Amino acid sequence: MEEMKKGLEGVVALDTRISYIDGIQGILKYRGINIEELADLSYDIVSYLLINGKIPDYEETNDYSRMLKENRQINGKLIEVLKNFEFGIEALDSLRTAISCIAHFDEQNNHHTPDANKNKSIRLVAKFPTIVAALHRSSFGKEPIQPRETLSHGANFLYMLTGRVPTELEAEAMEKDLILSAEHELNPSTFSLRIAASTLSDMYSAVICGLCTLKGPLHGGARKGVMDMLDEISNPGITKDYVLQKLERKEKIMGFGHRVYKTYDPRARIYKDVARRLAIENGDTYWFDLAEEIEHIMYHEFIEIRGKPIYPNVDFYSAVVYKYLDIPAELATSIFAMGRVSGWIAHCMEQYSDNRVIRPRAHFV
Ligand SMILES: CC(C)(COP(=O)(O)OP(=O)(O)OC[C@H]1O[C@@H](n2cnc3c(N)ncnc32)[C@H](O)[C@@H]1OP(=O)(O)O)[C@@H](O)C(=O)NCCC(=O)NCCS
Repeated sequence: MEEMKKGLEGVVALDTRISYIDGIQGILKYRGINIEELADLSYDIVSYLLINGKIPDYEETNDYSRMLKENRQINGKLIEVLKNFEFGIEALDSLRTAISCIAHFDEQNNHHTPDANKNKSIRLVAKFPTIVAALHRSSFGKEPIQPRETLSHGANFLYMLTGRVPTELEAEAMEKDLILSAEHELNPSTFSLRIAASTLSDMYSAVICGLCTLKGPLHGGARKGVMDMLDEISNPGITKDYVLQKLERKEKIMGFGHRVYKTYDPRARIYKDVARRLAIENGDTYWFDLAEEIEHIMYHEFIEIRGKPIYPNVDFYSAVVYKYLDIPAELATSIFAMGRVSGWIAHCMEQYSDNRVIRPRAHFV
């Protein structure tokens, strides 16, 4: 039997054409294009790129955006089901249930042709934001807000959440957030999705596996963890003690460290810049300053004292961006999923196109 690698650390499980990470240099590319370049495009273009493997031309972009807009609406029956949810249910749990429900409304749910999968992919990408916004509103007894055709994917989500058309910078921040969250090679949720896809299960089921895995606080749930931490600190005077006491108790500081990056996560740099700009636009740099203070303390503790490469990851400054966008912490993981769904779909299709059941062995002790 081969040597067992706990957490599959460093194990290469498959070939992919979807994304590339250099964890030492801090490089991330989707389909060969640097994340810094992609962050300036629209989510529609990046979603198309991930799923179809190329940047769409003008006509393809228009067609794809039109199809996404046409599919933003959700079945009225779903809202009725959602209204039955008890108040207080975790947002990600209700999103998971909602995706199960919409699978039943999709006649092509169990059709596995490339065309059916393409149609399902458009429905999934288009409906995620509508579902997240509607779920959140219905948990407060509010009616869902209908999607607005004239708004981009990100801006429309903020509009459906609050009923207010976002400022240009807020819309840009949301769009960038979805792009930066869209794909990250064989992270835990994508791996679990590929395992489901490798059994030739349908796309909805595979996406639900991704959602269930994203939920954990060591993966997508870390973003909420950062938001909670920022709230808990409450007073910048206690930041250092707060962080050091947590480290003494051997607790993790959410939003730091990464299995693959041993340097600054390139996505974190982009989020940091967006967070700074939002702070300035809002005329209130409190959250940004607090986050930077935590970063400085962590840098001193890990890089300067212990010589360990623990840097901010994707979840750290994205949480600060959410603070400025007035996004409640309980929505953080669901919004992460709204972006990630394009990457999940791309991996699902890649798995279907050259499949072998993913089935490792265990070492019996
Ligand atoms: C992401 C993460 C799960 C990577 O895990 P991993 O590759 O298994 O690395 P480990 O958890 O074994 O960490 C290695 C060491 O760094 C420490 N460390 C890693 N991340 C840390 C953090 N955020 N806060 C404090 N210490 C941390 C660990 O305690 C461990 O120390 P040890 O060698 O003394 O035991 C881990 O860094 C983490 O839990 N981070 C916080 C959650 C988070 O932000 N997740 C989002 C990831 S994008």
